[in-house]
Amino acid sequence: MCGIIGYAGTKQAAPVLLSGLDALEYRGYDSAGAAVFCGGKIKTIRTAGRISELRAKIESEKPEGTVGVAHTRWATHGEPSERNAHPHTGSDGVFTVVHNGIIENYLVLREKLSAAGRVFLSETDTEVISQLLEENYDGDPLAALQRTVAGLEGSFALGILCADFPERIYCACRESPLLAGTGGQCSLIASDTSAITDKADKIYRMQNGETAVLDKDGIAFFSPDGIRIEKREIKVDRNLDEVGKGNFEYFMEKEIYEQPEALKRTISEHISDGRLKAGCPVYGVNLIKKIFIVGCGSAFHAAVVGKYVFESLLKIPTEADLASEFRYREPLIDDSALVVIISQSGETADTLAALREATRRGARTISIVNVEGSSIARESEAVFMTRAGREVAVATTKAYSTQLAALYILALYIARETKAVDDERLGSLTRELSLLPGKVSEALNRSGEVLRAAEKYAGRSYAYYIGRNLDYASALEASLKLKEISYVHSEAYAAGELKHGTISLIEDGTLTVAMCCCGRLAKKTAGNIEEVAARGGSVLCVTTAAIAPLLGGDTKIITVPSSDELFMPSIEIIPMQLFSFFSAKLRKCDIDKPRNLAKSVTVE
Ligand code: G6P
Repeated sequence: MCGIIGYAGTKQAAPVLLSGLDALEYRGYDSAGAAVFCGGKIKTIRTAGRISELRAKIESEKPEGTVGVAHTRWATHGEPSERNAHPHTGSDGVFTVVHNGIIENYLVLREKLSAAGRVFLSETDTEVISQLLEENYDGDPLAALQRTVAGLEGSFALGILCADFPERIYCACRESPLLAGTGGQCSLIASDTSAITDKADKIYRMQNGETAVLDKDGIAFFSPDGIRIEKREIKVDRNLDEVGKGNFEYFMEKEIYEQPEALKRTISEHISDGRLKAGCPVYGVNLIKKIFIVGCGSAFHAAVVGKYVFESLLKIPTEADLASEFRYREPLIDDSALVVIISQSGETADTLAALREATRRGARTISIVNVEGSSIARESEAVFMTRAGREVAVATTKAYSTQLAALYILALYIARETKAVDDERLGSLTRELSLLPGKVSEALNRSGEVLRAAEKYAGRSYAYYIGRNLDYASALEASLKLKEISYVHSEAYAAGELKHGTISLIEDGTLTVAMCCCGRLAKKTAGNIEEVAARGGSVLCVTTAAIAPLLGGDTKIITVPSSDELFMPSIEIIPMQLFSFFSAKLRKCDIDKPRNLAKSVTVE
C-alpha cells in the first residue's frame, strides 16, 4: 500500500527517490509522483501509472535538485489518476505533501477550507493537509505542522516540502509507519526500511505525534508537545533487505521455492536434534481458558489452521478471527484469554487495532510476525518471529508457511507446559516438525504434474475449493491464491457445505479443487467429490498416496508427501501455490503485482 520516500542531501534527489520507490513497489500501488526543489521552486511530476512511467517523465523533465519527496499511491479517496496522485500542493503553493493513511475528518475540513476560499484540485483526503498547513502557516513550518496534525483525525505518515525552506523536509506520523534516517551528508524519510537501508547508516522510527525536520546535515526530532528530543536508532536486518529475483522470473516463484529454507530457519530456532527447546514464549499458560488467533488475508487462513491444531492438541477452546471484525465485535476476553496475532508485515492496520483491543481488554498477547521491530511486534507482550526473510510478491507464500510452522511450535510449547499431550506424542510431533522442510521440498519437486493440471484448467473462469477440517483451512488459502493472482473467480467451502446451495452452480466441466489430506475424514470428502462428479464437474484433488485409492476414477490427483495430519496444511498448500502461479502465468497476469492489491495494508 502507499509508500513514502524523501531525500535531503548533496546528490541529485530524483534518482534516489526513484530507487526508493522501486524498493517500495512491492507494497502495491496504482499511481506515483515526486516533488523536487529545482532552483528553489517545487517541481511536481506525477503519473497515473507505474513507477516506470514516472521514471520516463522524470528523465524527460530532468528536475535538478538535491531535496525532494516521492510517493506511490494506493487509491482510497478518488480514482487512481494523475490529479489524485501525490504530492499535493496547497492553493498558495507553499506546502507540498505526500501522505500515507486516511484522514477521517477530511470532509469537514474540506468544507471549512473551501468556505475560506481554498480551491481543491483533487478528490483526495490528502489535499486537506497541504491546505490546512497553509492556513496554519505564519512563517514557521514546524509550528504550522504541529497545529495541523492536532486538527487531523485518522492515520497519517507525512513527508512535506515548504517552499520557503528549500533545503528541508518536514515530517510527522500517527498510526502509520514512518522512518527517518541519516547517511553520509544526507537525511531520508521512508515508510518502509527497504527504501533507505542502502543509503542510511542510522535509522529512527517516528512515534505517534512526533514531528521532525531534516536537511543534509541531520535530523531534529520533536515530541508531540513540540519539545526537541533525542531518539534511539533502531536495529535493521540489512541482509534480509537485499533481495533480487535470483534465477527466477518472478518474486513469487522464488519465494515459493525458498520455503524449505524459510521453514528450516524458523523451526531451528526452537527445535534442535528433534527436541523442543526449554521454556515457553507465553508465561502462565496454565491459566489460559480461551485462545483467539487473529489476522487478515492469508494470516487469517493461518489462524484457521491454528484453531484446528490448538483445539486438537491443547483442548483449549480456540477461535480464528478476522482482525477487521475482531476489533469492533467487542470480544469477550479477559486475562484468562490468550490472543495470538498473526501478521507478516507487523503493520496491517486492522491487525494492529485488534492487538490494541485485546491489550485494552487485559488479554495476554503474542504476535507471530516476520518483521522485527514492526508496530505489532513492539506492542505485543511476546513475539514469535517467523524467519521467512523479506517477502516481495504481494501474494504471500513463504511467510504463510512460516506462520503455520510458528503456530505448530507454539502449540507444542503450550502443550508441554500444560501437559496437554504425553511425552511420546510431543516427541513424535517435534521430530515430525523437523522433517517438514524436507517434505515441502519434495512437494516442490513434483511441480511437473501441477503444471500439467494448470495447463488443463487455466482457461476456466471460476473454481470451487473444498475440504474438511484442516483441509478446509487449506482450501481457503488455496482459493485466495488462485483468485488474487490469476483473477479466476474462486470460492472455498467446507466440503460438507457445498450441497447447501453452491452445488447448484456445478455443471459440465466446472472445476472443483478438493483438498483431501486429512485421513480421518478422507472418505467423507471422497463422497463430496462424487457428488460434484455426478453433476459433470471436473475434480482436481490434492491428496496423499495412502488416501488416493479411496477416490473416484475420474478425479485428477496430485499427490503430496504425508506427515502427521496436523502438519499437512504446510504440505498440501505447496501444489496449490504452484497451481495458482502457473495458472496466472498462463493467463499472462502481473503475478508479483496483482491489480488493486497491496502487500502491506496500512488502512482499515
Ligand atoms: C495483504 C497481503 C496478504 C496478507 C494480508 C495480511 O492482503 O496481500 O498476503 O496475508 O495483507 O498482511 P500481514 O502483513 O498482516 O500478514
